[in-house]
Amino acid sequence: MKYRAATIADCVELGRLNHELIRDEGHRNAMTIAQLEEQMRGWLTSGEYRALLFEDDRETLGYALFRETETEVYLRQFFVIRRRRREGIGRRAMAELLADVWPRNKRLTVSVLTKNVAAVAFWRSMGYTDYELTLEIMPGTQPTPNHGMQPTAVVRG
Ligand SMILES: CC(C)(COP(=O)(O)OP(=O)(O)OC[C@H]1O[C@@H](n2cnc3c(N)ncnc32)[C@H](O)[C@@H]1OP(=O)(O)O)[C@@H](O)C(=O)NCCC(=O)NCCS
Repeated sequence: MKYRAATIADCVELGRLNHELIRDEGHRNAMTIAQLEEQMRGWLTSGEYRALLFEDDRETLGYALFRETETEVYLRQFFVIRRRRREGIGRRAMAELLADVWPRNKRLTVSVLTKNVAAVAFWRSMGYTDYELTLEIMPGTQPTPNHGMQPTAVVRG
């Protein structure tokens, strides 16, 4: 397996892979392939994010999209194609990133949906440890709080 930096010419493929990633991780993001491709083009053009493609002689095996700041490397997207999972490709891709691409003196972060159990297991086996948990109440599902208080009657003179 080898890797190379993605260029603008790769955005068509990255948009398609990003769409598969969203489906596989169970994300709510409803963007189309064309929109994802456009978003990717914006990120790579501005330099806000960099992407690496992992390949063998025949095909693209996966990709990583990340943003590096002064103190942190935030891995926003990481994907291995469906029919090549559990072959150690993700592990090898991470080994390349850690050894050759990312600096050793920065905090490394990744976000994962709690229901994406495969990815949670993968990140933990890569050495990431739990730090933050996002909780939510979706619009229209707000519970009625039972706080035991009654509204005070307002008496106007
Ligand atoms: C998560 C993902 C990148 C893992 O890639 P992969 O190439 O299949 O992972 P590897 O084969 O290198 O697995 C390395 C280790 O991770 C863990 N792991 C990987 N997939 C797992 C799964 N489905 N269930 C449990 N553990 C898993 C195991 O510890 C595994 O080691 P082992 O095979 O010796 O048991 C891949 O499943 C994927 O692309 N999923 C869809 C996209 C996604 O969810 N990306 C992450 C978003 S945060």
